[in-house]
Amino acid sequence: MDFKKEFEQRKEEINEILNKYLPRKEGLQRTVIDAMHYSVLSGGKRIRAILMLESYRLFGGKGEIIEPFLAAMEMIQSYSLVHDDLPALDNDEYRRGIKSTHAEYGEAMGILAGDALLNYAFELAAGAFEISCDERTARALQILGKKAGIFGMIGGQVVDVESEGKEIPFETLQFIHRNKCGALIEAAMMIGAVLAGASDAEVSKMEQIGADVGLAFQIRDDILDVTSSAEVLGKPIGSDEKNEKVTYVSFIGLEKAEEEVEKLSEHAVSTLVELPGKNDFLKKLILFMIHRKK
Ligand code: IPE
Ligand code: IPE
Ligand code: MG
Ligand code: MG
Ligand code: MG
Repeated sequence: MDFKKEFEQRKEEINEILNKYLPRKEGLQRTVIDAMHYSVLSGGKRIRAILMLESYRLFGGKGEIIEPFLAAMEMIQSYSLVHDDLPALDNDEYRRGIKSTHAEYGEAMGILAGDALLNYAFELAAGAFEISCDERTARALQILGKKAGIFGMIGGQVVDVESEGKEIPFETLQFIHRNKCGALIEAAMMIGAVLAGASDAEVSKMEQIGADVGLAFQIRDDILDVTSSAEVLGKPIGSDEKNEKVTYVSFIGLEKAEEEVEKLSEHAVSTLVELPGKNDFLKKLILFMIHRKK
């Protein structure tokens, strides 16, 4: 089967899980639940969940323990985008081809829907203890918390916002990218490995691969912000310039940024093939992510 078909199949698998785990649209809090569905089911490539699933499979993982974590990962991803688009942050009105959540539901509901998704993600992930009450589940939950928080995605977003319109050292730009984007990708790959019973050394290799892939993914996002179109991306282009963000493109130029993406992806793949397991789809997925057009 060709990669595209395999990818679509996995995406479908993740979408079914998300549909199953999202809260039912009922109760007096219905508006925020509607906004949660709107934000999560509006599309999205589901790359983090697919990376998690394929990392699980790489280490021979089988069984349903992965499911709540897959759902939690994409809910956290969606929440991060809902908040990223808010007027106080990037102030972007479109996401995944439709109005961003705050533009559709108002700012208050945008904030609350993001909060609700983040909280619900941890409620679901904690529910994994009902499937398997062991150390792996605890470790997976801990990784999710850390990489989504101040030592991960939120940490990166903080420095991203604080750096707008400023000259920052290259190390700070790397910190922003590794955290705002890399951390969740690292978490996805680590959690898949942990739940499948990988050793500490193997989990740390997965973290390294995730770090390379995550940084390359954000550099590609910076590139697409200047080279693509809103129609293709489903989100506005030129957002970085509008917000005076420092990006890899603004810092080292388009050509060097492309080279950096290549270097990082080669490094990620060479680390991956050193691992004992085999997962050809995972390798293709990494290359696809990095060379993607949207
Ligand atoms: C967008 O992530 C934000 C970044 C970290 C670059 P994606 O490009 O994975 O967004 P979706 O989930 O597919 O919409
Ligand atoms: C966002 O980076 C990373 C997040 C944690 C959401 P960007 O601000 O560049 O992401 P896009 O371009 O809006 O998707
Ligand atoms: Mg942003
Ligand atoms: Mg943004
Ligand atoms: Mg961007």
